[in-house]
Amino acid sequence: MKHVEHMSDSVALYLGDCREILPRLGKIDAVVSDPPYGLGDLLRKGGATEWSLMRSDCVLWDETTVGELESIIREFEHAIIWGGAYYALPPRRGWLIWDKIVRNFSSGHCEMAWTTLDQPVRAFNFATTSLISGNNQFAKEHPTQKPLPLMEWCIGFLPSEASVADPFMGSGTTGVACVRMGRRFSGIEIEPRYFDIACRRIADELKRPRLDLTPAPKAEQQSLFRGDCP
Ligand SMILES: C[S@@+](CC[C@H](N)C(=O)[O-])C[C@H]1O[C@@H](n2cnc3c(N)ncnc32)[C@H](O)[C@@H]1O
Repeated sequence: MKHVEHMSDSVALYLGDCREILPRLGKIDAVVSDPPYGLGDLLRKGGATEWSLMRSDCVLWDETTVGELESIIREFEHAIIWGGAYYALPPRRGWLIWDKIVRNFSSGHCEMAWTTLDQPVRAFNFATTSLISGNNQFAKEHPTQKPLPLMEWCIGFLPSEASVADPFMGSGTTGVACVRMGRRFSGIEIEPRYFDIACRRIADELKRPRLDLTPAPKAEQQSLFRGDCP
């Protein structure tokens, strides 16, 4: 294991290859991830222009083969895998759809997640134009960064106590969502530049003040009649 950051009691981030690190982590209930998929072929063929722009970022991505990824996923009781249509996973009905709303880009209009959820297909509308540069929670710091609201939405379908791992965490969006939702999180990223971004984003989120959702003590009804009244 190359490097570990224990960000809090419930968040640990690992720099290295998930194929080595994941089997050494303790019990984790759910894998929620957005693994690299399809890029190797695109790049080998010369690639669509938008992918060519990030060619250097993608060099490592296809090191994890499809077969290895499938065996990683099968270890978990619960799974949400964006790009799941690229892998030979068992038939399931609980697909999740991210509808990007905007239709004039050459990239997909929608993305699909294979899941272990026993429910009908659900869809989430979120325009990628919201992932603008700038100093806000949607600022894009990774070429395939998932929107934070999308990750919060999909994690919300998991049992409330389930701990989450993202073995391909990129800039750490799954981790930021887990911190916001009060879930235990383990994240792994192989590329040091993205690992550092994930550490910073998750540390910032841990510093944010949280709403205290503990129910306030019940107000006591004062008696309208004093005991000493005649
Ligand atoms: C599609 S991106 C994830 C983006 C992420 N969802 C986000 O919001 O930033 C996949 C990531 O997996 C990383 N990766 C590829 N192979 C890996 C491996 N074997 N172990 C760990 N990380 C890996 C890549 O460096 C890349 O950052």
